[in-house]
Amino acid sequence: MSIIAIIILAVLAVAVLVGASKRRDRSAAGLSKEARRNDKPNPALVDADTGPTGREVEAAAAAARNEADAPIVPSAPDEPFMAPDPVALGVTRRQFFNRSLVGMMGFGLSGFGAACIAFLWPQGVSGFGSKIKVGNMVEILAEIKVNNGFLYKPEGRMWITAYPNGAVEKARNTYSAVELTGMTAGVDQGFDAGVIALYQKCPHLGCRVPNCVSSQWFECPCHGSQYNQVGEKRGGPAPRGMDRFAVSVDGGVLTVDTGTIVQGPPIGTNTTGQEAEGPNCISEAGGH
Ligand code: FES
Repeated sequence: MSIIAIIILAVLAVAVLVGASKRRDRSAAGLSKEARRNDKPNPALVDADTGPTGREVEAAAAAARNEADAPIVPSAPDEPFMAPDPVALGVTRRQFFNRSLVGMMGFGLSGFGAACIAFLWPQGVSGFGSKIKVGNMVEILAEIKVNNGFLYKPEGRMWITAYPNGAVEKARNTYSAVELTGMTAGVDQGFDAGVIALYQKCPHLGCRVPNCVSSQWFECPCHGSQYNQVGEKRGGPAPRGMDRFAVSVDGGVLTVDTGTIVQGPPIGTNTTGQEAEGPNCISEAGGH
């Protein structure tokens, strides 16, 4: 019983599918059911319902295309490859960018190299750290006298003072050869005095040491260290006398090598025996 029902249902399903397929064919012609119902009163349009189906129209169009296909024209034969002439071609864009990139990198690297060389190149300029030609000894001694015993040279950060000829013998037993060159110039070369070039930096903690006109000493305002006119320590917390530069006197011309600093003499050195010639500018350790 149930088998019969299944067979009936299958037959009905096949009938429904066939009917639906026919309806799709008719609607594929472009007209809906409603449109065809509306067209019925018009005799001119009645045939449209019985006209070819969509598939028939497509098949006819395909056949017409096949018949109307243009004859096949053989293509031109391939030309053999010819490498472009570089002269006629000139510089390509790729070449241009490559060369520009390499050129710019080369330019940048050479600039950097030139800057490094310029930085490392020894500077033959004057100024602190170099040999400074101060001038003629006679004129320098006269200038020291005019300036009350002290001549300041800012380009060398130094004081130049006279070293008395009468103290040279004592100095020879105290100072090294490099220090003695200027101190003994008066005796050795016939000047009124020798000279000494003192570094302005206090050996205690580095303050700039000014001169004191009244005492004729150097007196440091920071912590009160005191030095006589040739930089020998006379008081205060400094660990030694003022540092000095190597000097040379050639043909009567004084040159100071500010690149060669010689440590000041030890505490207790007093070759000139100069006492304060007036009131001190700073009392000992007065800067504290
Ligand atoms: S820095 Fe000159 S006494 Fe201290």
